[in-house]
Amino acid sequence: MKLLEGLNWRYATKKFDSDRKISEGKLLQIKEAIRLTPTSYGLQLFKVLIIEDPDLRKKLRIASYDQSQITDASHLVVFCNYLVVDDKVVDDYMALKARSEEKNIDDFKGYADFIKQDFSNRTEEEKSIYTAKQTYLALSSLLNACAELKVDACPMEGFEPEKYNETLGLSERGLNAAVITTIGYRSAEDRSQYAKKVRKPEGDIFELI
Ligand SMILES: Cc1cc2nc3c(=O)[nH]c(=O)nc-3n(C[C@H](O)[C@H](O)[C@H](O)COP(=O)(O)O)c2cc1C
Repeated sequence: MKLLEGLNWRYATKKFDSDRKISEGKLLQIKEAIRLTPTSYGLQLFKVLIIEDPDLRKKLRIASYDQSQITDASHLVVFCNYLVVDDKVVDDYMALKARSEEKNIDDFKGYADFIKQDFSNRTEEEKSIYTAKQTYLALSSLLNACAELKVDACPMEGFEPEKYNETLGLSERGLNAAVITTIGYRSAEDRSQYAKKVRKPEGDIFELI
């Protein structure tokens, strides 16, 4: 299984080679893996910012506890969750579903009402937590795609979301920076690449019932 080989190869890269950039072709494949990520109800309530701009990344590095990956990697990827989960996001999705499946939108009215009812029972905070969780699935798709493409990555929660939201103007767009990752190529000087993988043994994680 190629994925397992890739997952053994990958590691959270601490030092990137700042001279190496990810090709357009590989970036396209990574984006497609994110786009194909399954989400709750299929709503895909996230945006993904792929940041190259060096000046912007200098600012964001300060908001990321000065972690060097932010400026040295090929790209910084910011997964943003929707803060607003209203009837419109459900209606937009049903319109897309109807177009994609070449069906009448009225066929999905019952399904749409069901989802709207579900969200009406949740607070704004609960809805934000719900959408933020979905971004981690997208992050996982990115990490798996990168592992197969032999592109290095460092997923990161070590950043200040409020500062990201302010710097990137996310709040006014109804978005929140949930989790980030840097992608690119490891530096030969990154000692972490030689470290042994640390994972719990199978028996500590799985229970067959
Ligand atoms: C959600 C998440 C957040 C993380 N945040 C950081 C971070 O801010 N900085 C960092 O250097 N590594 C970060 N890591 C990397 C983990 O420490 C690393 O994945 C873990 O120790 C397992 O090691 P491996 O990925 O090299 O196999 C994060 C990983 C995940 C999945």
